[in-house]
Amino acid sequence: MTDKIPLLIDTDPGVDDALALLMAFNDARHEIVGLTIAAGNVGLQYTVRNALKLCEVAGREDIPVFAGAPAPLLHPSPDAGNVHGQDGFGDVGFAPAVRQAEDEHAALAILRLSHQHAGKLVLVALGPLTNIALALKLDPTLPQRVARFVVMGGAVTCHGNITPAAEFNFYFDPEAAHITLQAFGRYDLADWEATIAHGLPHHEVDAWLAADSERARFYARISEKTRLWSADRRGDHWFAADALAMAFVLAPEGALELAERPLAIELEGTHARGASVVDWRREGGGPDQANILLRYDQARFEDLIRAALAAG
Ligand code: BDR
Ligand code: CA
Repeated sequence: MTDKIPLLIDTDPGVDDALALLMAFNDARHEIVGLTIAAGNVGLQYTVRNALKLCEVAGREDIPVFAGAPAPLLHPSPDAGNVHGQDGFGDVGFAPAVRQAEDEHAALAILRLSHQHAGKLVLVALGPLTNIALALKLDPTLPQRVARFVVMGGAVTCHGNITPAAEFNFYFDPEAAHITLQAFGRYDLADWEATIAHGLPHHEVDAWLAADSERARFYARISEKTRLWSADRRGDHWFAADALAMAFVLAPEGALELAERPLAIELEGTHARGASVVDWRREGGGPDQANILLRYDQARFEDLIRAALAAG
């Protein structure tokens, strides 16, 4: 029996997912009980392959990997292969991992692990919420067994990154986001706008990635394309959304400013499908379900990344 905090990560790796996973692998206070894999940044065959490979590179083949839904609940959605590489890991042509994913579906694994770790489980969503929505449809009592639910998604004043108003994870599967966020009485949210407020200077990232560690070498390779794309499009800083969310998961005490508000997902609309509409003035009378991260200790965030890369 361990007294570590059980951590279940739903993810669609993805370059920033990979950094978040390395941070979680490196954390002594948490025990990762599984990775459930979503389609999102790229197709499911790639996101599963990437999760398995990252575990192999990091020497964490003890962590079970479960494949989930290959597509959003209702409507097809474009992926983010232009940002992460067509294979989601920078198209560097690595050899696939030896290990395969487990036979159990991700949604069933989420439910099983929620029973196994009832009352203690920290559930983290770093991708579209399709698997968690499916789990909730199978068993709406899931939130009762989850101690903390942390989501990377949304843009809390509608400064989106995939459309003008919407952030990628929620836009990819808005129905799943709606089902999931409605179901949890309370959740922690690290949105795209918090990501933008916590950029990582490219020159610092380059220095960390020069570290003499297998993890840093692999991460430098798979992230090169997206870092170049980002430097070209977004300036001096690189933005690693899932890494910030993971810092909030692993070290919640690093959160310096939070706001609790009602939040709804726009499911219709010509311009705003998938947008996260925060009721900042609490006009609708809904509950303050979203605990929104506004400011995180930047030095602590960067320390967690450096340690994850074994960059001293
Ligand atoms: C989110 O979208 C994905 O591309 C990233 O992996 C992250 O989870 C940021 O909007
Ligand atoms: Ca992601």
